[in-house]
Amino acid sequence: LESIFTQHPEAEKPAPLRPRKGVIIGAGQVGLACAYSILIQDCFDELILQDINQDKVEGEVMDLIHGMPFITPTALKVGTVADVGQGADLVIITAGAAQKPGESRLNLVERNIAIFKSILSDVVKHCPNAILLIVSNPVDIMTYATLKITGFPSSRVIGSGTVLDTARFRYQLAQRMQVDPRSVHAYIIGEHGDSEVALWSTANVGGRKLIDHSWESLSTSEQDELASIFNQVKNAAYEIIQRKGYTAYAIGLVVTDIIKAIMRSQERILTVSSLVNGPYGIHDVCLGWPTVLNEKGILKTVNLKLSKAEEEQLCHSAQVLQQVFQQLNF
Ligand code: LAC
Repeated sequence: LESIFTQHPEAEKPAPLRPRKGVIIGAGQVGLACAYSILIQDCFDELILQDINQDKVEGEVMDLIHGMPFITPTALKVGTVADVGQGADLVIITAGAAQKPGESRLNLVERNIAIFKSILSDVVKHCPNAILLIVSNPVDIMTYATLKITGFPSSRVIGSGTVLDTARFRYQLAQRMQVDPRSVHAYIIGEHGDSEVALWSTANVGGRKLIDHSWESLSTSEQDELASIFNQVKNAAYEIIQRKGYTAYAIGLVVTDIIKAIMRSQERILTVSSLVNGPYGIHDVCLGWPTVLNEKGILKTVNLKLSKAEEEQLCHSAQVLQQVFQQLNF
């Protein structure tokens, strides 16, 4: 094949660019949805897929690489953080047990903590400067556990948090108002789970607040309609898992959005999960909060002004998470 080309006599070798390298640990449904979305959105120069099932991960990579002629090529490889993944910029962790129909995310804690303890020692050793993006559920607990196990700065330990819940919230509101979901600005914060909190007091579309005054000022039918929207958001995963057994595509797009915010230093505000210390007396817990991300991880967080009801709900969500973590023998 070399004979096909004639080297330019004055051709100069390009300066070695430092490749943008990512590793996805866990090649299950979520990990693969992340990989597919990451590849078609050109997030990395090198992407490594790591999984305990070698045949599975080899087959997945073989399948994905045959699509390269249709996208901006990425060097996609099978490997681990201990070999080709060494020195990665970003390590995405999707490994672990997933919810079964009717099972809450918090039910997965014990199993996934054990898996993380086995995974993270190599991550610390071979990717000491990486940003860690935790996706495995219960994501807030797993983010906090990662912080404790690795000892990494909390600015570099990020969970997917309530970014997906916020997306679901925006979509449901947009459907009812018949506008583009990208024009609806409404946030879900707290646990990525049953105790999550809808920020109705600041939700807005086109600069107009959805609720002009307090929640209490709404009629019963208005409260019922909004409560129904929020319940659809909060229970979305249960409904999907009941029907297809897992969720994957939307969380794959969420993870890619977080990665782009980091790798392209976009300074985007996303409700990722990270260590919260201070607001509303909340300390030493990871939960979803509007956070500014850049190439170094977490840059700053938004000083939210919550309604009294939202503050109470958020403190409850933080307590739910703290109680779970305290039961773990860390
Ligand atoms: C969901 C999973 C990612 O909410 O927890 O679909």
